[in-house]
Amino acid sequence: MARVRGLLIEGGERLIGEVTISGAKNAALPAMAASLLLEGKTVLENVPQVRDIETFKTLLECLGAKVRWVSKGVLEIDASALTDITAPYDLVKAMRASILVLGPLLARAGRARVSLPGGCAIGARPIDLHLRGLEQMGASITLRHGYIYASARKLKGTRIYLDLPTVTGTENLMMAASRAEGVTVIENAAREPEVEDLAELLGKMGVRVEGAGTSVLKIEGVSQLRPAAHRIIPDRIEAGTFMVAAGITRGNLLLRGCRLDQMEAVVEKLRQSGIEIIPQDSGIRVVGPTKIRSADVRTLPYPGFPTDMQAQFMALMTLANGLSVITETIFENRFMHVSELRRMGADIRIEGSSAIVTGVPSLSGAPVMATDLRASASLVLAGLAAEGRTTISRIYHLERGYEALAEKLASVGAKVQRVEIDEGA
Ligand code: EPZ
Repeated sequence: MARVRGLLIEGGERLIGEVTISGAKNAALPAMAASLLLEGKTVLENVPQVRDIETFKTLLECLGAKVRWVSKGVLEIDASALTDITAPYDLVKAMRASILVLGPLLARAGRARVSLPGGCAIGARPIDLHLRGLEQMGASITLRHGYIYASARKLKGTRIYLDLPTVTGTENLMMAASRAEGVTVIENAAREPEVEDLAELLGKMGVRVEGAGTSVLKIEGVSQLRPAAHRIIPDRIEAGTFMVAAGITRGNLLLRGCRLDQMEAVVEKLRQSGIEIIPQDSGIRVVGPTKIRSADVRTLPYPGFPTDMQAQFMALMTLANGLSVITETIFENRFMHVSELRRMGADIRIEGSSAIVTGVPSLSGAPVMATDLRASASLVLAGLAAEGRTTISRIYHLERGYEALAEKLASVGAKVQRVEIDEGA
């Protein structure tokens, strides 16, 4: 019998109070990678203390960087002297975002050896666009024994067209271009706020980046970058998750530190479901409706509805009055939460890349299992609203990307506690 860390939730409590949104994991990770570009110190503020950040810290230390928490949420990275250029299999397996060291290492050291990230629960997630872009900049890349061997005497700026607006692909190429000769233009670039945040950090390091937030980026490489300090943007996915938490429990929350301008698609859909979202001086007021209205969603690259909010929105729709169609267009297997939500009484039918959700009057608590980061968030949300007790196993998925989620929920009235769960053999 394996014992795994889990959460136990007694459902039915309305969430009332204030929550502070943490910094965005998916902005902090590329920012940490960018620190490799310079022989000096980078200071990052508002970094969430989550497992993925700790993993990336270990990876940077493997490369020879000195990384330390100087205070809560403040990370100092000194990449003056790198001693290795390998991102090992065990770390990349633990976190595929490790691929973000490829571009900076190539740009800084002219060489990189990065384990090929395997697939993961939500899809195959190839990195062909990362590699093709780097080759276009003059890198020679071979794949051997599960590793990417990349080398480039000097990367050259060029024009790159991305078949898909890949987020980490755009970020890798931006960082590679930062020390390349000449100008790199990236077309069909990702427009996510996390990409914009990286552009702002690179700007502080002395790199000219134009077009951040649009689908055409222009980066002028420099030979020397300068030390920088930067505050990471708030986590728009955590903020969206708490908005759903208020909506699904008929709650009333004040969210501090989130930015509505980066959440327009999510806010629009949540308002359609009946949730009130009101900007106030001290934060964003979110009030759950007595009855949730159904609404259809189609995930798209930013500024469309984010795939990282799909599972959480589905949890809300399981209790809506009517039928909603949720279509996942980004990843090929991001419905792992459906079978677990069904165990709690949800009525969901999958047809190709769409889930047809028919609202039910109530969910019932049950033992369920987390499969990936955002699926586990949707199970927590369902557990908050369900009648009775829900236990969620394998919550290490949750701990990868949510800072102190159980504690934050408990502080606004949720009955949630950490438990050890006996998993079947
Ligand atoms: C980033 O992943 C995020 N991770 C993901 O968040 C997020 O779900 C995803 O963007 C989409 O928004 C980080 O930022 C660390 P993509 P990424 O490359 O960059 C295909 C979370 O929950 N593709 O934009 O890996 C790919 O298969 C995580 O925090 C290629 O075909 O996503 C996918 O279908 C989960 N070839 C689509 O593009 C490539 O070379 C989007 O992937 C690259 C991507």
